[in-house]
Amino acid sequence: MTRSQISRRHVLWMGGGAALLAALPGYGQSIPQPVFSDYPFQLGIASGEPSADGFVIWTRLAPQPLEQGHGMPAAVVPVQWQVAEDESFRTVVQTGEALARPELGHSVHVEVAGLQPGRPYFYRFTAGRERSMMGRARTLPAPGADVQSVRFAVGGCQHYEQGLYTAWRHAAAEDVDFVFCYGDYIYEGRSQRMRTVSGWPVVSVRQHPGQEVYSLEDYRQRYAIYKMDPDLQGAHAAAAWFPVWDDHEIDNNWVSDLDQDGTPPEVFRLRKRAAMQAFYENMPLRSTSFPNGPSMSLYRRASFGNLLDMNFLDTRQYRTDQPCNDRWRVECADLSNPKADVLGAAQEAWLMEGLTSSRARWKAMAQQVMMMDLDREPGETYAANLDSWGGYRAPRERLLRGLTDQRIKDTVILTGDEHQNYAGNVHLDGQNPGKIPITSEFVATSISSGGDGADMRPDMPEVVAVNPELRFNNAQRGYLVCQVTPDLWKTHFRVIDQISTPGGSVSTRATYALEHGKPGLVEA
Ligand SMILES: [Fe+2]
Repeated sequence: MTRSQISRRHVLWMGGGAALLAALPGYGQSIPQPVFSDYPFQLGIASGEPSADGFVIWTRLAPQPLEQGHGMPAAVVPVQWQVAEDESFRTVVQTGEALARPELGHSVHVEVAGLQPGRPYFYRFTAGRERSMMGRARTLPAPGADVQSVRFAVGGCQHYEQGLYTAWRHAAAEDVDFVFCYGDYIYEGRSQRMRTVSGWPVVSVRQHPGQEVYSLEDYRQRYAIYKMDPDLQGAHAAAAWFPVWDDHEIDNNWVSDLDQDGTPPEVFRLRKRAAMQAFYENMPLRSTSFPNGPSMSLYRRASFGNLLDMNFLDTRQYRTDQPCNDRWRVECADLSNPKADVLGAAQEAWLMEGLTSSRARWKAMAQQVMMMDLDREPGETYAANLDSWGGYRAPRERLLRGLTDQRIKDTVILTGDEHQNYAGNVHLDGQNPGKIPITSEFVATSISSGGDGADMRPDMPEVVAVNPELRFNNAQRGYLVCQVTPDLWKTHFRVIDQISTPGGSVSTRATYALEHGKPGLVEA
């Protein structure tokens, strides 16, 4: 393409089929102001992947978020950004221009570097005459620094139709250093005006349009609906996120190249390719996570000085098929398949190497599916959740034996997926726990999936009674706040009274703690 052809494609845009106004100067030169048919920052802003000297800042231009093409021209559009030391942007420390490209849904991922460690910064974007809201992000402490406290939130599973994002509204006010999102940021299914819960009809709190999503444009529109929620935008603006996916970013209970419907792997890979591109476009990820066809590198580590190592894991992409045809609560020989994998060889080796060499006081595994070996159906036989580590005995045992054999202590597992809160200790055999737990696990409930929820589900007392490693179970909506200090890890289970109407209130339902050097949860 010649320079003049490129120039002609850099045009001003009115949106909605309006006329192109003028040609812009050549590529790389200063470009006049684009004009948009509506506010272009309706999907909000975000920051993520903080390091000791920077973080990613993100936005996606979409003046017509739900339209095909999101109200943008098939052209590159410049976006200016600023990072400041103060909320009023009096001390701007960095500025730049990024290009929002149509190939990437007009998303912008700027990897800001050269900042000071362990302090908050503020950022915002400008496109044409339009300015975004402001976001806040904190850089990580300097490597090896003596860190006395880290405070972070854990949230995910935010089905749009099943409830409001009141939990994010409250999480945004928690003054956390970062957010770990364990996935199910979107749900891929068709719109449902009603559903049935325990045999009762429930009307959806709100609806998104459309069928189940398959194409890149479908996924883009689904993200747009979710991201237009102001409470979710507020949670992104309040702190940097480390997002990972679970299953619904692509398809329910997918693993590797397999979906639940028996779709040929080569066909499912086309869907994965679209879903993964949309995930990248809508998350504040680094270029190291740039999608490569139907795969994407998502496991990574963040260190908070000498206090905490966070290992963010991907338990979907490299996993072998669920055993026993992924039926709920059955037992079959497949559970003990020695060739089964959850993390895959490369990620598992990376994790064990990182845990073994870590000098941090606390080492967290931030991931998706439950590690505790719970009997889900009290009765004569044991029944596992086959989509969790409980359905993968061999890799589960390999990981836990690795922690024991390598004397890796003071580990914490953070989990989502279940749409319930759990706190418990992890043993090789949950039904016959040893004297000393190998590690402990906090399972965060959901932001909205499952609707209002309840303090106790009818089967909970029995489930608690037959699972000696379990300390706490609750089925309200909410998020976790983890307060980590050198001697104590505290996890607060923050729950919302209801999410079906605006204004739900937050409270701490329970707090469980770990004392450094003393395995096993204590109620705090
Ligand atoms: Fe979920």
